[in-house]
Amino acid sequence: MDHAKTKGIVRDPSLAPEGKLKIEWARAHMPVLARIRESFAKERPFEGLRVAVALHVEAKTACLVGTLMAGGAEVAIAGCNPLSTQDDVAAALLEEGAAVFAKRGVDMREYEELLVRTLETKPHLIIDDGGDLVTILHTSRRDLLDTVRGGAEETTTGIHRLRAMERQGALRFPMVNVNGAQCKHLFDNRYGTGQSVWDGINRATNLVVAGKTVVVGGYGWCGRGVAMRAKGLGAKVIVTEVDPIRAIEAHMDGFSVMPMKEAAAVGDYFVTVSGNRDVLRGEHFARMKDGAVLANAGHFDVEINVRELAAMAVSRRKVREGVEAFALPDGRTLYLLAEGRLVNLAAGDGHPAEIMDMSFSLQALALRYLAERHAGLGGRVVDLPRELDEQVARLKLETLGIAIDELSREQREYLDNWF
Ligand code: ADE
Repeated sequence: MDHAKTKGIVRDPSLAPEGKLKIEWARAHMPVLARIRESFAKERPFEGLRVAVALHVEAKTACLVGTLMAGGAEVAIAGCNPLSTQDDVAAALLEEGAAVFAKRGVDMREYEELLVRTLETKPHLIIDDGGDLVTILHTSRRDLLDTVRGGAEETTTGIHRLRAMERQGALRFPMVNVNGAQCKHLFDNRYGTGQSVWDGINRATNLVVAGKTVVVGGYGWCGRGVAMRAKGLGAKVIVTEVDPIRAIEAHMDGFSVMPMKEAAAVGDYFVTVSGNRDVLRGEHFARMKDGAVLANAGHFDVEINVRELAAMAVSRRKVREGVEAFALPDGRTLYLLAEGRLVNLAAGDGHPAEIMDMSFSLQALALRYLAERHAGLGGRVVDLPRELDEQVARLKLETLGIAIDELSREQREYLDNWF
């Protein structure tokens, strides 16, 4: 069935030409995914299969969708965040034949409605980023569970939710942990987030980072990247953590480590990237310096308690695209970026194309693995097979023109020996 002209909810279909240009640019910088697309076009691993996708609807995501369609899939896609869809890309994808249910700037009710519309296409496979598709399938729309054979999850937050479901025996189909692949979190979470978060913050604010104090809330793979790039931009960097081992790592990486309550008084920029709620809350806003900039890089908009900030403020107004000023009764002003939603996608274009080349190649291979091997996997979080991770790494090296050594027979024998 051709969804093309019949299915979809987008802001403005006439934006398609701009979206197409963005997609062409991304595609030209995603050579590994291009190779996979070529093999999918020949082998058609998704012939007869429907795929529902919840991802940030922007150019790199469109390249993944194109790859799945080249492999024979009928794809329906919704955004995985109310503020990250790029309307021109959504329009272009619709024109390219996907069923697109995605608009930028929707409220939570419409956001969920659009996700449900993708599930109403009765998918065999799903791709989720943050876990909302899986949650809907296991709560309000259990009636749509039957056709689903399995799926793949993109992000740390989604994996946390899936693990909780797995522990309770609630998960009804296998979900591949793409985030757990080395070619995902080592590069996407660290270098991707590290760059795209500062891209978003700098675009939104147009302020200098050098010489300022940056407070990074959370030192997982994403936090490591955000802190590393803040240092590279010339900031003094403070890390806050709840995990003692990560705190030592941050300390030995050369960052100051202290509780948020202390950091609150000295930070110029605050970036939350912990995966947890209320990392910045009333007690912190009360201590912050006039002019402090607050940004969230975690998947959900729960890390900065915006409700508390709004309740403390005497006024709230938009001062630039993606920047709101909260005036406090004592005369201080705090600036919140992108409504506290993930700043790299709400105020920027997300991770660089060359990084998403690896992440989305993994997604494509994970989906083919599921299409072929879903039977017997059960309601579990499944690791992506190591060979697929290595396949992406080798293709990436090849496209980068980087050769590496191989073990000699003697070296292999040496490693196999224990005496
Ligand atoms: N572009 C598409 N999906 C993304 C993600 N999960 N993070 C950053 N950029 C993206």
